[in-house]
Amino acid sequence: CGIVGYIGKRNSQEILLEGLKKLEYRGYDSAGVAVYTANGLQIQKAKGRIANLESKLEVAPLEGSVGIGHTRWATHGKPSDVNSHPHTDNSLKFSVVHNGIIENYISLKEELIAKGHVFVSETDTEVISHLVADLYEGDILKAVQKAVTRMTGAFALGVLTEYEPDRLIAVRQASPLIIGIGEGENFIGSDIPAILEYTRNVFILNDGEMAVLTREGVELMTLEGNFISREMFHVDWDIVTAEKAGFDHFMLKEIHEQPKAYRDTMSSRISADGASVTLNELSMTVEEIRKISRVHIVACGTAFHAGMVGKYVIEKLARIPVETDVASEYRYRSPIITKDTLVIVVSQSGETADTLAALREAKRCGAKVLAITNVVGSSVAREADDLITTWAGPEIAVASTKAYTSQLIAFYLFGLHLAQTLGTQTADEIKEVITAMKALPEQVEAILAQADALKVVAEDMAKHDNLFFIGRGLDYAVALEGSLKLKEISYIHSEAYAAGELKHGTLALIEEDVPVIALATQHELLEKTVSNIKEVKARGANVLGIAVEGEEELQKSVDSTFIIPKTLDVLSPALAVVPLQLLSYYASLARGNDVDKPRNLAKSVTVE
Ligand code: G6P
Repeated sequence: CGIVGYIGKRNSQEILLEGLKKLEYRGYDSAGVAVYTANGLQIQKAKGRIANLESKLEVAPLEGSVGIGHTRWATHGKPSDVNSHPHTDNSLKFSVVHNGIIENYISLKEELIAKGHVFVSETDTEVISHLVADLYEGDILKAVQKAVTRMTGAFALGVLTEYEPDRLIAVRQASPLIIGIGEGENFIGSDIPAILEYTRNVFILNDGEMAVLTREGVELMTLEGNFISREMFHVDWDIVTAEKAGFDHFMLKEIHEQPKAYRDTMSSRISADGASVTLNELSMTVEEIRKISRVHIVACGTAFHAGMVGKYVIEKLARIPVETDVASEYRYRSPIITKDTLVIVVSQSGETADTLAALREAKRCGAKVLAITNVVGSSVAREADDLITTWAGPEIAVASTKAYTSQLIAFYLFGLHLAQTLGTQTADEIKEVITAMKALPEQVEAILAQADALKVVAEDMAKHDNLFFIGRGLDYAVALEGSLKLKEISYIHSEAYAAGELKHGTLALIEEDVPVIALATQHELLEKTVSNIKEVKARGANVLGIAVEGEEELQKSVDSTFIIPKTLDVLSPALAVVPLQLLSYYASLARGNDVDKPRNLAKSVTVE
């Protein structure tokens, strides 16, 4: 989602709309503004692109010089007029825009309903406006400060009240927010592009900080109200760079957003004691889960590769047989689908035609369908019986990165959910996986910090026309994704092979200096993989090994190694794919390709 806010002397509606357009890349399933007008605080919102909101405002403009605006990427509640921000309370005197997820919104909502508050939307955000109204005793700053002590999760907020039209309150807790400083006017924005047209002087808020904006100035403080001073940041980026948060490409930005995507997808679904997962969104009952006799995972492209990891995960954790199919094949092979089959469709966009067709076929045959998708309100999300949303945020680059890894997290969560229900893992085993999952975001950060080393390797790879990825078990599934990523954006021909299968044909292609990327993260399979590495080395291959910390032995068998942090074997794909994404990115860059928009490809393919 994207937030903007303005307090000054100009027509705020125009500034808010311009800001929202610049933030549209953060999500665009609905948009809205609240402006303090001569008739008090007025809200206008519309489903769909910002242009829809703009048309409504052309007909009925909101005149005023203080306002907040929002462009939405649905998380809680489908895209609709009523679920759009800004949200208000029953008195209509308070207005809130929010980016993030309020994890405890259900209990807060119940508490407020008991006090007589009436809710109109399905969103977590509406709770904030009611909570602030409930706590208001004549000082909006104090009310917001009290409200945030009650909220858990991630939130960046812009808050207005009709009672104090000369103050705009901004809050940042684990979702980005910046303050723009003008002359006689000040701004808030989720991101720099929102305000760049008006000012280049900004304060970047840190987590746990807030600000009070008036026309004359800005006060920064902690959520507890202790004043802080901050150096002003002067932005010298152009608007295009600013949209990418300073990264050269959306793909690189999205690779770097993975720690956040992991945290967002996981955090509200793990119990406070870290002992169990809670997938409250699922409607399937314990009885229904016990009856599942087989699982089919169906998807296309990168989502299919996530499904391959999903197969290992579900079979390992829940001991249910799983088949994987690419969606374009599934319907035409007359799959054996019964009432006891659970079909899992995986799709970043939720609009891929083949995946949607497979979903419909599965439902027609009487199977239950669980969707894993990144877009709330998408066709797949609407038509499936059950839904696990990945909270990766909008993905712009055609080559999928953070959506894929968030899909892995969804499979881990679902695998654990099945294991808990079926008793296929002990409580200790479940806790062990969850503990290791919680470490993943920081471990990804550690990998990202070594990007420069991968750049050097990739520049060498970019000189070759053929390349191979090998791995066993889960490493094979990751090898497939690494190879696809490389093909998509660098246009280097590459193949991924189960390491043990190479000698049955493809070994004929290995000759002097051919690059081979060998994934060796699976403890039990390490010796076997090393044997396969020796087979390619003996034919002259130049091998880069991807190994886990503590397994440095591998280094003796390869030409170079990239070490990923230690984790459980079952979780290693969530780390091992990151260096492969970076290798593809830098190889594409070295070849001078259009990284974010590779030739012949589309982000979402809505034809069969
Ligand atoms: C397109 C994209 C791929 C993506 C695939 C499935 O081919 O280029 O990156 O993996 O569609 O997309 P979905 O939105 O269903 O995950």
